[in-house]
Amino acid sequence: MKQFGRVKAVDDVSFRAEAGKFVVLLGPSGCGKSTLLRLIAGLEEPTTGRILIDGRDVTKLAPEKRKVSMVFQSYALFPHLSVAENIVFGLKVRRLPAQKRKERLAKVVELVALTEQLERKPSQLSGGQRQRVALARAIVAENSICLMDEPLSNLDAQLRHGMRVEIRALQQRLGMTVVYVTHDQVEAMSMADRIVLIREGRIEQEGSPEELYARPATMFAARFIGTPAMNLVALADGAGGAVIRGSADVVLPGSGAGLTLGVRPEHVRLEEGAAGTGVRATVTSAEYHGADTIVTVQAGEETLFVRAPGQLALAGGAKVRLAWDPEAAHLFDSETGLRAVDVRQQARVAAAQHRKTG
Ligand SMILES: Nc1ncnc2c1ncn2[C@@H]1O[C@H](COP(=O)(O)OP(=O)(O)O)[C@@H](O)[C@H]1O
Ligand SMILES: [Mg+2]
Repeated sequence: MKQFGRVKAVDDVSFRAEAGKFVVLLGPSGCGKSTLLRLIAGLEEPTTGRILIDGRDVTKLAPEKRKVSMVFQSYALFPHLSVAENIVFGLKVRRLPAQKRKERLAKVVELVALTEQLERKPSQLSGGQRQRVALARAIVAENSICLMDEPLSNLDAQLRHGMRVEIRALQQRLGMTVVYVTHDQVEAMSMADRIVLIREGRIEQEGSPEELYARPATMFAARFIGTPAMNLVALADGAGGAVIRGSADVVLPGSGAGLTLGVRPEHVRLEEGAAGTGVRATVTSAEYHGADTIVTVQAGEETLFVRAPGQLALAGGAKVRLAWDPEAAHLFDSETGLRAVDVRQQARVAAAQHRKTG
């Protein structure tokens, strides 16, 4: 736990980063990600709790003794030093002999493709190149653990994508253990072996990207992963089963009161016309994105997004029907936000009850 005055920046957080894995601390701004990383690095001291590296308690150990490298969002390069000097600066401070420094530099600049830029000053580099210098400086230390705090947030979208791929490839090639902080769920999903989702200083959910996508533990987790975000619609009791609030079409057997249904936009099938099965809805707008179209619809009192492949010409006011596979539906307790019993399990229970009573 880490407390600043009355603010509990990190509260009762416990997680493990396995050796050689890429672990992402993901969460909105202000949730305590940087504080957590600084605690691991030794730049902050925990108010309570312990930090272990390779089974050794390092809670009281100075940062430079922890054998971890850190890459910051701001790169923190020395403007008056060349690329080469920036990269080996830390080795010089540690009094590594010149020959050793040269060898390590040669190896690392190849890895990050900076061979041509060694004599330049940071001001003569592009954003991506500066980021590579910061990475090289972390790699050259040859620590097996690297901590990164939003290292890509100063780059434009195109460069960010390239660097995501590069960092992940480097981590795997070198077998580094990386703890990577970001608020960007796309970075987390595409780079992580394991995601630790943080909300207000606490762990909301921890798991592989696939687990967080397929089985969010809470409505917060459901909303945080995926774009557009998962539809979360309040259910009510209808005639014959649970309905979307204000709608007459049954979406689940049993009672819907107090429950929220979650279904991802990419899992909703949309059929044009009012006839047929599924939930009746009315189109509000359709936004063409190239590969797909994001359709906004109104079903009962709830607004939903549908992600349909290709181009879909739908005018506002058009009548449609919505359907999804049972396994694409998620159920949450509206009050606590926690995942409710598995939807299919609930359907089976309801069917069994129906057989018994009917
Ligand atoms: N040195 C500090 N002094 C006081 N409050 C701080 C300090 N560092 C962080 N905080 C507070 O702790 C909380 C978490 O901050 P931070 O770890 O930077 O979040 P994140 O990196 O997820 O955006 C915030 O409320 C922030 O204002
Ligand atoms: Mg931060």
